[in-house]
Amino acid sequence: MGTRTAPEPIRAAVSVACRAPSVHNSQPWSWVFSCGSLELHADRMRALPAVDPSARQMVISCGTALHHLEVAVAGHGLGVVVDRLPDPGNPLLLASVAFVAADDSDRTRSLREAIAGRWTDRRAFGAPPPDTLAGLGDILGRHDVAITFLGEDGATRLAEATRSGADLRRHDAAYRAELFWWTGHSGAEEGFPPVVLPDGGTVAERRECPHALEPPGITDRAALAVLTTDTDTRLDWLRCGEALSELLLEATARGLGTCPLTHVTEIAASREMVRQAAVASGAHRRFPQVVVRLGTPSADEYGVPRTGRRRVDDVWRDAGI
Ligand SMILES: Cc1cc2nc3c(=O)[nH]c(=O)nc-3n(C[C@H](O)[C@H](O)[C@H](O)COP(=O)(O)O)c2cc1C
Repeated sequence: MGTRTAPEPIRAAVSVACRAPSVHNSQPWSWVFSCGSLELHADRMRALPAVDPSARQMVISCGTALHHLEVAVAGHGLGVVVDRLPDPGNPLLLASVAFVAADDSDRTRSLREAIAGRWTDRRAFGAPPPDTLAGLGDILGRHDVAITFLGEDGATRLAEATRSGADLRRHDAAYRAELFWWTGHSGAEEGFPPVVLPDGGTVAERRECPHALEPPGITDRAALAVLTTDTDTRLDWLRCGEALSELLLEATARGLGTCPLTHVTEIAASREMVRQAAVASGAHRRFPQVVVRLGTPSADEYGVPRTGRRRVDDVWRDAGI
């Protein structure tokens, strides 16, 4: 696309892409339109040093926005050509995206419709109907990310990993302060308010949040999916974010509720427990990145508000060159 200033459809697609999920709703991305292509940068000012010292989840979060962009821009008759990590000297430049004319497809249309309907539902789920999980491995394969559904003891293993991580963090003041701020003291545009935390069922493998209400005893029957990669590089993290986005949107389109979980992959000891659980369920790739709960959501949304997002003007720059 040989234009110098950004065409409106690209800016509109960026605005939709910013609905993507991110760790603690930190939205650690910025977009620069330059020389006819769009750059995706990680915003180091929005890093979470206590929860995410390696910036792995920051890059995964940017990957979800990158895939959301691909889905959003297809609605304007545009396909993307993505150059990931194009500048070895600039680790914050995660992708450079060129645009080409391309036909939209039914599948992309259904993913796009799912963007507005997707949200992180932390309540207990009913079991997903088996056909709603079919074929997800093939869908994620194009991102070089594998999905493994944990077997019957999966919930017990993850609950154990959750407990072990929580014990290690009990006296980690920096972690607790960061979590307290992002999950309770944030403005409308970032973080998430206590009201989105669960009060509708027992989910033993959830992240312990200081503002969470005590849930009543409804048993969670969610399927537990682990996304794994062969190696643990920035490229794996970015691609894992793209795969996570595709999984969440596809599951939403199939009527499932979704909830990513990473508290179990942040600490080496609990990450190893997740790895062992995934291997026991047939995973061949070594590095668990994200766990996702998938299930039949409660019909009663009891007015859970959607989390806010920063204004597009705050995350977008048209370099005009
Ligand atoms: C990399 C990543 C890690 C996340 N980890 C967790 C988690 O451990 N627990 C949780 O409840 N939500 C987790 N989330 C969900 C975010 O909190 C959620 O996407 C964000 O608050 C925005 O809300 P929304 O998904 O409802 O739009 C994670 C999301 C991403 C992308």
